[in-house]
Amino acid sequence: MTEHFRALVIDDRDGKPVADFRELTLADLPDHDVLVEVMFSTLNYKDGLAISGKSRIARRLPMVAGVDLSGIVVESRNPDWRTGDKVVVNGWGMSETEWGGYTRFQRLKSEWLTRLPDAFTLEESMAIGTAGYTAALAIDALEAWGKIRTDAREILVTGAAGGVGSVAITLLAERGYTVTASTGRPEAHDYLSSLGATGFIDRSELAAKGAALQRERWAGAIDSVGSTTLANVLAQTIQSGAVAACGLAGGADLPATVMPHILRGVALIGINSVTVPHAERDRAWAILAESLDRKQLASMTTVEPLSRLPQLAEDIVAGKIRGRVVIDVTK
Ligand SMILES: NC(=O)c1ccc[n+]([C@@H]2O[C@H](COP(=O)([O-])OP(=O)(O)OC[C@H]3O[C@@H](n4cnc5c(N)ncnc54)[C@H](OP(=O)(O)O)[C@@H]3O)[C@@H](O)[C@H]2O)c1
Repeated sequence: MTEHFRALVIDDRDGKPVADFRELTLADLPDHDVLVEVMFSTLNYKDGLAISGKSRIARRLPMVAGVDLSGIVVESRNPDWRTGDKVVVNGWGMSETEWGGYTRFQRLKSEWLTRLPDAFTLEESMAIGTAGYTAALAIDALEAWGKIRTDAREILVTGAAGGVGSVAITLLAERGYTVTASTGRPEAHDYLSSLGATGFIDRSELAAKGAALQRERWAGAIDSVGSTTLANVLAQTIQSGAVAACGLAGGADLPATVMPHILRGVALIGINSVTVPHAERDRAWAILAESLDRKQLASMTTVEPLSRLPQLAEDIVAGKIRGRVVIDVTK
């Protein structure tokens, strides 16, 4: 086993969290019960915030960054996990309170591990990553709401060309919904059409403050943007529709009224991917296995080496990344 290995570590420098590559040994890792050889990680918006220092994600330092990982069990003190098992870990506080995936080896609590679904390779599981699995959690939540009307009505996906948005579009289209994409990148329309979007609105149309109730249009929505965009989406959602709120790429505020909820019965459903129990995770992975076309997944994914993370972090926070990025931690 490799004696020394490289990891991306966030540490305090003059009172600020700064990310840098550092050589670690197995003795540096936390004393959790399963040692995993990490093969792939990924880049999520939250990773971008953590590495670029644009937001304080790590709540203790030093912190090995990386919200997700996939790899192979090397040692286990838990009989449920054996050497050679292929595993995926999404969230569970990695990069916040627990050391994460931007490293060749990591020790993890056995209860955080998900067995790699048969439908996917280790690399594909990170092409999905927290962003894709959050898109599946959002679809599960909308379908569990049980009142989404799909007869000639559209589902809106905001932040469409991003990671959550791209996976949400392809899953929704595959499940028979009519999908409209809200994007600030007109040049991404062909890409979004190839994923299954059939309508487009420019994200600026949702960015300006609007009336408390607007023309009813969306049967449901998956929102990665928050703020005024989410308020407008709620105001445009039809009777008994639902909006799954995942993100804050446009802001963490919500300048909305109760009118869509009390006059149209619209539901606002919050999605938290980090600490959801295994039953919900399993349902999300089942949706992915059932409805995610692997060719579509490949078409929205690029693979990058660990060494490119600092630049990629700046790019995702600036909204320049399209689709999903897998991080090959062996390079
Ligand atoms: N709740 C959870 O557990 C959970 C899990 C995963 C992600 N998230 C959150 O979900 C959001 C999306 O994550 P991601 O990984 O998909 O990020 P991403 O790949 O960067 O996608 C975000 C997209 O939002 C749009 N956007 C960016 N800045 C914007 C702005 N100022 N105003 C309006 N739209 C803007 C862009 O889409 P266009 O270029 O198409 O306009 C961008 O591609 C993030 O806020 C992330 O923190 C939450």
